[in-house]
Amino acid sequence: MTEKQALITGASGEIGQALVQELSRRGGYKIVTADFMPLPKTIEPLSAEHVRGDLLYQIKKFYDYDFDVIFHLAASLSSKAEVAMEEAQRINVEGTLQLLLLAAHRSEKYKKSIKFLFPSSIAAYGLPSLETKQAAGLAQEDEWSDPRTMYGCNKLYCEKLGLYYSQCYGQKHLDETPPHFLDFRAVRFPGLISAFTAPSGGTSDYGPEMLHAAAQGQAYACFVRPDTKISFMAMPDAIRSLLMLLDAPPAKLTRRVYNVTAFAITAEEFRQRALRAFPQAQITFAPDRRRQGIVDSWPTDVDDTLARKDWGWQPAYDVERFFDDYFLPEMKKRYLP
Ligand code: SER
Repeated sequence: MTEKQALITGASGEIGQALVQELSRRGGYKIVTADFMPLPKTIEPLSAEHVRGDLLYQIKKFYDYDFDVIFHLAASLSSKAEVAMEEAQRINVEGTLQLLLLAAHRSEKYKKSIKFLFPSSIAAYGLPSLETKQAAGLAQEDEWSDPRTMYGCNKLYCEKLGLYYSQCYGQKHLDETPPHFLDFRAVRFPGLISAFTAPSGGTSDYGPEMLHAAAQGQAYACFVRPDTKISFMAMPDAIRSLLMLLDAPPAKLTRRVYNVTAFAITAEEFRQRALRAFPQAQITFAPDRRRQGIVDSWPTDVDDTLARKDWGWQPAYDVERFFDDYFLPEMKKRYLP
């Protein structure tokens, strides 16, 4: 079998590290990585080449490669983007635009459909008030599309750019399906939790931060109220969903942007579960107005029926399995004597 070429941007980030490991375990790909940081030692040997630096300055280099698939993960997350907005626009939007252009150009020129996998987010949703959020139920993909954060606006716009470059670029006639086109596919992730890495710059970070702190015996002041509820997912499920969407036959896709979810729990439920596993944990609540406002604008949970129907999505880790089979065993191995 000839080896395909994959580009993974943001490879040193949380999703990036897990994806490099899983894609390499699956085999069949020459993996090129990109990030403004060096690669962590754990994944260094898995990358054929690491392009280090600002994506926008490096973009020309990528024209020399013959990528079959691009996983564009590099992003500035929601809390950070809210205070460094111009940087967020550059990283989240201009970086994505340049890579989409590259992929669309190469798809046309070499008559080869390049797959472009994009992690979007529950931040693409924006509920106007806490009361609306509490009454809304599961959010479907096309509802509540007025995000209230810079990051959410960036993600929603990049979804639209992905649709534009895959369906409209070059202004083909509406009836005309180009034979070779950029094949854009996106999942809207909930908050993600890895047992191996810690997040930074996000607003769903209170979940993983609380758990990692409890496991390490560090006190933690949670920056949202105890009743705050959004959906979360174990990192292996996030990677599995990306790869399932990658593998889905185009004819099965009824849309290009899909919700995925695993379990929705409150910050207090996180605390209770952390205390059950680590009874010495010191977890208090000190809500931050701005970060609370962000999470209050995200849905309590999303409807992922279409991902289930179209490409067989189902999380392996519900809340019980997340704690009992994934997160806690790893924490106990690492931190308990
Ligand atoms: N987890 C991300 C954040 O909190 C949302 O996708 O910014």
